[in-house]
Order: sequence, then C-alpha cells, then structure tokens
Amino acid sequence: MEHLIAPSILAADFANLQRDVELVNASEADWFHLDVMDGVFVPNISFGMPVIKAIAHHAKKPLDVHLMIIDPDRYVQDFCDLGADVLTVHYEACNHLHRTLSAIRSLGMKAGVALNPHTSVKVLQDVLHEVDLVCLMSVNPGFGGQSFIEHTYSKVRELRAMTTGVNDALLIEIDGGVGKGNWQKLVEAGADVLVAGSSTFNAPDPQVAIREMKGM
Ligand code: DX5
Ligand code: ZN
Repeated sequence: MEHLIAPSILAADFANLQRDVELVNASEADWFHLDVMDGVFVPNISFGMPVIKAIAHHAKKPLDVHLMIIDPDRYVQDFCDLGADVLTVHYEACNHLHRTLSAIRSLGMKAGVALNPHTSVKVLQDVLHEVDLVCLMSVNPGFGGQSFIEHTYSKVRELRAMTTGVNDALLIEIDGGVGKGNWQKLVEAGADVLVAGSSTFNAPDPQVAIREMKGM
C-alpha cells in the first residue's frame, strides 16, 4: 500500500491550533497524530480531552490518538466519544493488553499498540490477530524533536516478517525523528504510517515537507 503521513500536533503552534489543523486538512497528509501524555508513563504532560475535542471539531482527516498514559483502559470510551479512529496504547502500560485491544475494537476503533525502543517486537507474537496497527517508537516517548534511533529499521523488518501471512492488514507506524532523511528507507523496510511532528511544523513550508515525505 501507499504509505501514510500523520503530522503530530504536538509540534503545532498551540496558540494557533485551528490554523495548524486547517494546514493539515489542506495538505497531502493522511491522518492527524495526537499525543496524549500523563506525566507518569512519560516525563511530560501534553494535552487531553478538551484539546482533542477542539481539534476534532475542525479536523477533516482520521484522528490517530497515541496514549502515553498508564492504565489506558479507563479512557477507551472517552476517546471513542471524542472521535478517535485509531487508538494506540503502550504495551508497557497494559497489564491485560489483549483485553484492552478487544475493548478498543469493540467500540469500532482501530486498535494500536506502541512499543518503546527497548521493547522487542517479539512480545506481540500472541496478539497479532488482535491488532490493527503497531507503533514502533523510534525515540523514547515524551518529547518531539528527538533523534531517530537507527535500530528501528531492523525492528520494522522483523515485525513485517512476523505479520506476513498472519495479519497482512496490520499497519506498521513509526513515531519519532522521522523526516526527509529517513522516510524512504523506512517505507522500504516495510513501514506504512510515518508520524512527522517537527519535520512537518518546523519546515519552512509544511505543505512542501509533507509532499516530499509522500514521495510526490
Ligand atoms: C513522542 C511522540 C511523537 C512526537 C514525534 O513521544 O509520540 O509523536 O510528536 O515528534 P517528532 O516527529 O518531532 O520526533
Ligand atoms: Zn506519538
């Protein structure tokens, strides 16, 4: 499939949020990536429900919500009600991942699971049928603008080999430090969705940056 670009709103100008949402609406980007951080699972606090509600009001593309919070089961229904299309939880934050993924799917959302850089893709072996998207963190979660961890390429290849013939519809997403220097190599390795925060919103022209990462 053609790869998707998901600009991360974490890198947008929060004082001009509607402007930046409209920028993504008007671009060649495919999804909105929304990073929710609780200050416990990760050492940062980003934004929560009221901000997502405001974004959803203007967004004309699917909402890809990345929960960097402990015990995300508490809020699955809330994020569904807010309009999340993809809801991603962290493997490291779930004691009962299978149950959490089932709950997400039962509400009609795509179920995603994110892995920190230190977590092997092998831990997903027994839930591959229950997952719509795997988000491989290519930085330690918590902040935008960090450097891409090169080991991610081999994780993409290993995960793609695991899913082939098992769950061919599963999307592999890469999150952190993605930009013009590595998008192509990630797609070649088997990535389907590229999150792009700084490389979108810090670019001289975000529309041009998105088009470049789409290979246009
Ligand atoms: C990091 C977040 C990322 C972040 C990516 O914890 O999950 O989505 O916004 O930002 P960039 O693209 O700037 O690395
Ligand atoms: Zn993210």
